Amino acid sequence: MSNHNTSSRPLNVLIMAAGLGTRMKSRRAKVLHEIGGSPVISYVVRAAQALEPRSIIVIVGHQAEEVERAVLAEVGELASFVVQEKQRGTGDAVESARSVLENSDSVVLVLSGDVPMIRVETLKKFIEHHNNTGAACSILSVRLENPTGYGRIIRDDSGTFQKIVEQRDASDEQRQVREINSGIYCFEAKDLFRALRKIEPKNDQGEYYLTDVAEIILASGRTVSVYVNNDAREVSGINTRAELAEFENLVRRSAIRRLMIESGVTFIDPSHAYISAEAEIGRDTIIHPNVTIEGESVIGEGCVIRAGARITNSRLGDNVVVKDHSIIVDSQIGPNCAVGPFAHLRMNAVLEEKATVGNFVEVKKSRLKRGTKAMHLTYLGDATIGERTNIGAGTVTCNYDGVNKHETIIEDDVKVGSDTMLVAPVRVGARSITGAGSVVTKDVPPDSLVAGVPAEVKKKLK
Ligand code: UD1
Ligand code: CA
Repeated sequence: MSNHNTSSRPLNVLIMAAGLGTRMKSRRAKVLHEIGGSPVISYVVRAAQALEPRSIIVIVGHQAEEVERAVLAEVGELASFVVQEKQRGTGDAVESARSVLENSDSVVLVLSGDVPMIRVETLKKFIEHHNNTGAACSILSVRLENPTGYGRIIRDDSGTFQKIVEQRDASDEQRQVREINSGIYCFEAKDLFRALRKIEPKNDQGEYYLTDVAEIILASGRTVSVYVNNDAREVSGINTRAELAEFENLVRRSAIRRLMIESGVTFIDPSHAYISAEAEIGRDTIIHPNVTIEGESVIGEGCVIRAGARITNSRLGDNVVVKDHSIIVDSQIGPNCAVGPFAHLRMNAVLEEKATVGNFVEVKKSRLKRGTKAMHLTYLGDATIGERTNIGAGTVTCNYDGVNKHETIIEDDVKVGSDTMLVAPVRVGARSITGAGSVVTKDVPPDSLVAGVPAEVKKKLK
């Protein structure tokens, strides 16, 4: 296979992601918890991919299948997986990739699946540093105000690296050290796997620590170098829900900032808007407080999204007004439409240009064509509704007979009277009118007025 990476040595990326993450107090593997709507692991994988490595190998264990799926969704076939059956520590995790990497004459960049904010630029500089120093092992470190919980970088009086000591194994004096191990390393593959044979689980947790490899490599007469990074946040790990929330906040703030600065979106209160990193929003759109925009939503220019709205994986054209507390999921809204307040669009609801859906209207798997209106208290499910049709207050498509769902078709220029029940499958012909309170059980021909229970044709309109 050819090597695309621009640095002088072939590069393989190894991502450790087998742990459960005990401190999360969760049944879910830590790397599957989400930040800005994407699993933690996907951020790491994305950074790895941008380095154009020869391969990305992910070590999986807890909820391996879900982790694999999350990785594949991000990078596809560039990634491969190694299973670590029992999680006996980070050294053991890397050991599980021995057969794949041991004999490769390459640089192995080890990343932690729970350090998601690492930037590609930083990794590039780090790898370059490793290649330039000719070290067998390079460690990415950073100085933290509060180093609690991390492994400490222990140096001798002259400042030369000696070893990494974990928080729980550290003496009081060692705990004073502010420089920590980020959990990101570059190794010469052969040196790494040679040293791994020598690590022992002699520590407070009884685990095989990858961090011990550094000291072993040093003792073997090879060089270990430490690359100090300036930005503390990007190398911080996620170990608790509190840290997860901090990162969520960070990602959210930067997504909103990007939308304000680069896309020209107005946020009435940026600290109370919840926008996924993938969302696209057009210029001069105004986002009111407590709006949530999730997944791969695309919102056009000049829209107004009022307080309390939630928009998930949906697409809105230009100049759409979404009024307060409306929910739009997996749906599409054309330009100049209005939705809400308190409307619910879901399962591929489609509003064509200038269609309007008002208070307490639910639209499920239905299409409202150009200029059609359903203003009040209505359920439209499995329905196709033509152009310029008016759906009166309280109309219901009775689409479910207890076993199957059935379709309703309403053609162009129809006036559906208030409180009409449309018992599907049923079709209402163009330009027809249903009287208030009609229960329509059979097809209505075009140009007719129907009324009653069940509804009968009362008058031909043409
Ligand atoms: C590790 C480092 C510590 C460093 C910190 C930075 C060790 C012994 N310590 O500690 O020096 O400051 O990261 O964030 O390496 N994992 C496996 N299999 C295992 C154990 C862990 O795949 O058997 C994975 C986890 O899923 C996680 C990563 O390795 O993605 C790090 O493990 P974690 O237990 O979080 O290590 P820390 O205690 O944070
Ligand atoms: Ca960690």
